[in-house]
Amino acid sequence: MSVSPLRFALLLLTLLTALTALTALTACNRLDPDSPVAQRRKVFKEMTKTREHLMDYVKAKKDYDADTAIREAETLQRLSRQPWAWFPEMKTGDAGRAKDAVWQNPEAFHQLAKQVQDDADALVAASHQRSLDALKPATKKLEQTCTRCHDQFRQS
Ligand code: HEC
Repeated sequence: MSVSPLRFALLLLTLLTALTALTALTACNRLDPDSPVAQRRKVFKEMTKTREHLMDYVKAKKDYDADTAIREAETLQRLSRQPWAWFPEMKTGDAGRAKDAVWQNPEAFHQLAKQVQDDADALVAASHQRSLDALKPATKKLEQTCTRCHDQFRQS
């Protein structure tokens, strides 16, 4: 019985892909949950979840509820303060997906960190107006700051 070279190559590719995925998975699991990278990622994930709930209102995927929107905005406000302490002043061995720029240009990094906190404050204020029209621009503004910082300081 003979295996065509193409089939063999495909099989090899599949095996390699599986192996790579497995290695990536174990590398993730090995990340010390107390490490700065793990701590800041936990906050970033919660931030994303909360922001998505608000985006559901903005994109009319969910019926707008003013009380929930206020709660979500306040959660984002609280979370927006948290990740930055988990970026140590000196770059350590594991920098996660943070670019060297975080440490090379700390002023710009902290300026954007400050910006997202200001955006979250404005979002809370907007949510208290209890109108989707007020919530929309504030949510989008915050979202733009997330993206701006990721463009400059996070590896894609
Ligand atoms: C001042 C810069 C900055 C701002 C502002 C910022 N981020 Fe990030 N974010 C980063 C960096 C740097 C990383 C890479 C962290 C790492 O891998 O250790 C990251 C990673 C993430 C991740 C990936 C976490 C993971 O598990 O790998 C998510 C999700 C995320 N950010 C969401 C957000 C959201 C949502 C906002 C806005 C509400 C936001 N970020 C604002 C810099 C920023």
